[in-house]
Amino acid sequence: MQADPVLATVIAVVALLLIAAAAAIGLKRIRFPFTVGLVLVGIALGGLQLQVEALGILSSFSLSPDLILFVFLPTLIFESAFNMDVRLLSRNLAPVITLAAPGLVISTFIVAALVSLLTPLTWGPALVFGALISATDPVSIIALFKDVGAPKRLAILVEGESLFNDATAIVLFTILLSMVATASGSGESVGQGFLDFLRVFLGGLAVGVVAGYLMVLTISLAEDEPLVEVAFSTVVAYAAFITAEHYLHVSGVMATVGAGVMVGALGSTRFTPELKAYLRQFWAYAAFVANSLIFLLVGLSISLSMLSNYAGPIGWAILAVLAARAVTVFGLVPIVNRLPNAEPVNLRYQSIMYWGGLRGAVALALALSLPTTFVFRDLTLALTIGIVLFTLVTGGLTMKPLIHALGLDRPGVPDLVARAQGVVAAKRKALSRVGDLGTAGKFSSRIIADLAKRYRQELDHAQGQLDDLCTGPLFQNETMRQVLLTQALTVERRTYQEFFAQGRISEAVLHELDLSVDLERDALRRGEASSILPMAETLEVRVAGFGVRLLERFAPTGTAVLRHRVRTLAANYERDSAVHAASERVTEAIRHLAELAKVEASVEAGCRKIYEERAAKAMERIDALAEHFPEYASAVQERTARRIGLDAEADAVEELAAAGELPDTVAREARQRVKAAQRDLARRPVTPMQPDPEELLNKVPFFKELALTDFQRVADALVPRTVLPGERIIKQGERGTSLFLIARGVVAVLVASEDGPPRRVASLHAGDFFGEMALLSDDPRNATVEAVTACQLYELAKRDVDGLCEVCEGVQQALTAAALARKVSTARSEGP
Ligand code: CMP
Repeated sequence: MQADPVLATVIAVVALLLIAAAAAIGLKRIRFPFTVGLVLVGIALGGLQLQVEALGILSSFSLSPDLILFVFLPTLIFESAFNMDVRLLSRNLAPVITLAAPGLVISTFIVAALVSLLTPLTWGPALVFGALISATDPVSIIALFKDVGAPKRLAILVEGESLFNDATAIVLFTILLSMVATASGSGESVGQGFLDFLRVFLGGLAVGVVAGYLMVLTISLAEDEPLVEVAFSTVVAYAAFITAEHYLHVSGVMATVGAGVMVGALGSTRFTPELKAYLRQFWAYAAFVANSLIFLLVGLSISLSMLSNYAGPIGWAILAVLAARAVTVFGLVPIVNRLPNAEPVNLRYQSIMYWGGLRGAVALALALSLPTTFVFRDLTLALTIGIVLFTLVTGGLTMKPLIHALGLDRPGVPDLVARAQGVVAAKRKALSRVGDLGTAGKFSSRIIADLAKRYRQELDHAQGQLDDLCTGPLFQNETMRQVLLTQALTVERRTYQEFFAQGRISEAVLHELDLSVDLERDALRRGEASSILPMAETLEVRVAGFGVRLLERFAPTGTAVLRHRVRTLAANYERDSAVHAASERVTEAIRHLAELAKVEASVEAGCRKIYEERAAKAMERIDALAEHFPEYASAVQERTARRIGLDAEADAVEELAAAGELPDTVAREARQRVKAAQRDLARRPVTPMQPDPEELLNKVPFFKELALTDFQRVADALVPRTVLPGERIIKQGERGTSLFLIARGVVAVLVASEDGPPRRVASLHAGDFFGEMALLSDDPRNATVEAVTACQLYELAKRDVDGLCEVCEGVQQALTAAALARKVSTARSEGP
């Protein structure tokens, strides 16, 4: 009976998934790389199909270019772009892009030249083949690298290249194919080709970035509906691809890369940890399905008889591809290494990049999409299949041994020491627990004594190993310093996560702190000194900061700017408190760890000092804020306390529900109530009590002379402004439009000097005013004024100052007198 096509497809897909899942178990047992294994299984199935009729149904679902491009590729590319470490990628962008764009073009020409010499392919079709075969394949490489546990930077180099060069290859392939079809190849069309390439590549990226951004915004609307949110992410992966590729005729691959990176980067601060976990799991599953099907189908589409027919040309083509890859990797990477600020890629990494240039589904999709009118279609297809199979099998089977032989999977001394310390700590803990069992009296003392003896022996052994490491020839004080600081960073990170779980810090602050730990860890790896509290700025903070600066130019007192300032102040306070508490905890941990590993006192003290200074710095800032802005400090504290309270409530609900003491419906209701309150709290801005402007006016001597109604008018015209330490309020040389009164805090008055840094001519405090000179004389501002501490200011526009001077002569006199005195004092401080 002939099955209906939909049913047949479903049966084929389910059967393939079953085979893949079963193969996954089997391949894991015999430690065989998954992707290569699947291809081999696919080939075997293809052979069996001829004998076993029932297997014929598998061919209801066969590899077609559209299937690869529109069904599998978006999933696979989105998944890897979404999980990509953007910071690591951006630091390695130079080698990645060099290999992915010029590298691919060079490789195309080398392959074409060799293949047209060594095989029957002529120059035109050889170029088309060169383009399609030069793209390294993200799918197989990523799968392979996950399998073998490659170092992170190496993985980024190879993954990044393979993601970007797919786009390059697809574009180049299309351009070359149309040139071959119309038999044109003039200089003009090469130039046009280059412009086309830029348009398609960058256009695709732009589509993706916009789509990714819109999706992140939309997701924030669907709060707490992870299923809906995951659905949105699927939509964006495919919509970006299809809109770009099909409707706008720009690169779909780049669009999906852009969307994935955008969602990954923005989502890291905006999504809840639960949603992130959901997304990661969903996409891991989707990628598994796509991977399994694609590799089985690749295997199924390989016909061994076709390969043997073309064995000679395939052999030459393999040599051509290997030669071209050698030229691009070993030729271009050393050039990129010489660029200023480059983090050099060493020869061992280059070797892996060379050998890791697997070809896969994208090459096959392009070869399959060649029109039937293409002269050498069969030969090109056979060459492609041969090379895909060769690189997959040799690369897949030898990558792990190669990485091992190059020592890239070998842990450094710091890692070894840390590992040994971990074992010692674990055995100690086990020993003490076993001891507790003995005192509880429920276990036979013989069993306990035996177990304790065993643990004691193991502990001695582990301690011996640790001591050996620490006295070994490879060990230096610097190594120990690195070990201690690495562990300190781990403690620091864990503390921040704990604070977040307890509601003591918000997610945005957690993310910022996490990022600063990451940066320090990188610095430590590169052997740079640990700086004191590097404040990492997230992408979002930077974008927001830019927006606020723009707003400030046009509407310095607008509510958006004010709200941003308050938020920044609150976040600073929260962050400083967390840094302070974590630094104290880390100092303790360092003491403990140092004792465990018998670290030299000077090394221990050096590490502790970093954190002690950090704690002191944070405390200084907390004090300064509390002193100048008591109402902020108490508002933030109150909010944190409420958050801790709500988190405790949430914990209690979960505990009661788990113990079965709350019926499901009641628990759900309670959970929703707490969640709503938490969201409400997170949204509500910190609103400190504003100091009373009238109280301030009373501090300014000459205002006291005003009649009550005038006084009230001035009070109404004042606009409050909060400024952060170091912020510039007035810039020397600009036009003056307002006068400032200081309610709280300290500002510095600075005058530019001809040589060297600006001179500080005065410090002004609460009750002082500044900015009067430019208003009175219409001259430009004669000094720069900067906040020394966080300040609360009131701004009075020129119009209001003028009005005030008209009604009250005292004010005019006071301002003029101050301006005169200041001018004299500035002139005097300049010296003769
Ligand atoms: P203006 O010139 O409008 O802008 C800069 C302000 O700095 C200036 O007004 C004064 O208010 C203030 N200023 C300049 N020189 C001194 C000084 N020597 N002592 C105190 N304040 C000063």
